[in-house]
Amino acid sequence: MSEHDPANTVDEADLPAVAEPFTGDNPIVIEGLKNSFGDHVIHEDLSLTVRRGEIIGVVGGSGTGKSVLMRSIIGLQIPDAGTIEVLGSSITDAQDDDDIDIRSRWGVLFQGGALFSTLTVAENVEVPLLEFYPEIDPELRHEIARYKVMLSGLPEEAASKYPAELSGGMKKRAGLARALALDPEVLFLDEPTAGLDPIGAAAFDRLTKELQETLGLTVFLITHDLDTLYEICDRVAVLAEKKVIAVGTIPELLALDHPWIQEYFNGPRGRAAQNSQERGAQAREQGHADSVDNSGEQGA
Ligand SMILES: Nc1ncnc2c1ncn2[C@@H]1O[C@H](COP(=O)(O)OP(=O)(O)O)[C@@H](O)[C@H]1O
Ligand SMILES: [Mg+2]
Repeated sequence: MSEHDPANTVDEADLPAVAEPFTGDNPIVIEGLKNSFGDHVIHEDLSLTVRRGEIIGVVGGSGTGKSVLMRSIIGLQIPDAGTIEVLGSSITDAQDDDDIDIRSRWGVLFQGGALFSTLTVAENVEVPLLEFYPEIDPELRHEIARYKVMLSGLPEEAASKYPAELSGGMKKRAGLARALALDPEVLFLDEPTAGLDPIGAAAFDRLTKELQETLGLTVFLITHDLDTLYEICDRVAVLAEKKVIAVGTIPELLALDHPWIQEYFNGPRGRAAQNSQERGAQAREQGHADSVDNSGEQGA
């Protein structure tokens, strides 16, 4: 068979265009962002840079504008001022077409999940596939959806269930499967463990970490959950006074003298989370030293 045999060439025009993965250092760069609703200013001169491959935790009191910030980054909230770049493309001056290009390269799990209740889990996962790659053969689309469902740690039979038939934790995983539908480079998670019991929350954290590592994702993770921050976040950004007042590792944040940060991380709940993380790390070290059975760690 010759390489030049025309019968062996694939007409590239028939394949969906796939963007080159982003190789820059900072997949999200926000500068001087201002958001307001009428007279109510939510963000003022907010800046934040997210590094490629990290899980960045975003914390802040309720109503400080964490969800609004996420909505601005993904182009659902038009800011009053400032610039936002995602994967090297401007969101703030994107024309419609550009915008769509970038939209297929991130996945979003909104606060509350927001699955379509009249669609099965697999059909939910197929929605973005249909939107962005309508030319994909239906059989292949079903196959991709089933794969994403399993990647999210759901049993295979969950694919044909409706959201109402799922537990809270399973709904979150179904939302995650949909967020992963297009093989995103950036994953946005808005309070994914809110409402889960501690075991379900810890399992979801482990899954997030595993996906970040194996798929090389950058994860923008809004959370209240101190255990999540200690267990899986590389850095934490603190939203207060309408801006990101600090960003760094937890030890770096603890070294700052800001009252909200001190109260949050050094309050009773913060200390409990820190202790539990230290105990977990010790137990893992112990486990490796004695090469005991670690299989319990892989549980759902
Ligand atoms: N569509 C909207 N219209 C008016 N006000 C809004 C809208 N969305 C959010 N807000 C207000 O913006 C502030 C920040 O909201 P949000 O980002 O949801 O906070 P959180 O940090 O809890 O996620 C809140 O005071 C909220 O009431
Ligand atoms: Mg919110």
